[in-house]
Amino acid sequence: MKSDQLTYEGHFVPYSRPELVAKLRDALTDSRFQHCLRVEQTAMNLAERNGVNVEKAAIGGLVHDYAKQRPDEDFIEAIKEYHMDPELLNYGNAIWHGVVGWIFVKNELQITDIDILNAVRYHTVGHQYMTPLEQIVYMADYIEPGRDFPGVDDARKITMNNLKDGVAYQTKQTLGYLVGHDKPVFPQTIVTYNSWVPGSGLD
Ligand SMILES: [Fe+2]
Ligand SMILES: [Fe+2]
Repeated sequence: MKSDQLTYEGHFVPYSRPELVAKLRDALTDSRFQHCLRVEQTAMNLAERNGVNVEKAAIGGLVHDYAKQRPDEDFIEAIKEYHMDPELLNYGNAIWHGVVGWIFVKNELQITDIDILNAVRYHTVGHQYMTPLEQIVYMADYIEPGRDFPGVDDARKITMNNLKDGVAYQTKQTLGYLVGHDKPVFPQTIVTYNSWVPGSGLD
């Protein structure tokens, strides 16, 4: 199904799709907004293939980067206000916009469905027991048609063939990239790696 043919019926959000799309457009630069539309469509495709609720996948994909362009102070304030792990303060937007950003999705977009919120929450670092919906948003973000990096075609093929193998692939690539560039690794990313990559059959 094409995303512009989608009518929200599940009461996961108190807005129509055009209203929610407008909120994303207002919160983001045009290029990031376009990325969100492509993640929405890719998440719908993956949901159809994997027997997951297409509307939830669409909403999760659309809103996953809602918080991406907020100032650091907003995240720092939220980490303190909601008593989140203070370790988070040692990281930055790349981690925060998911792990903390779901709070803004909940409060400002009035999305209360915990599965959708978790898909936003874990899209930057994954976690040990990602649900199929969480796996879909994690992978749709990585393989949407605008992505262009070495290995993206392999990532697309693997993910279309088997969602979990896609999760293992992305997780391995991401950790490899961080280590290879002397970048800090958020501890949760290592937890994700340990539960998804060893024994996955990738090499
Ligand atoms: Fe993101
Ligand atoms: Fe994204």
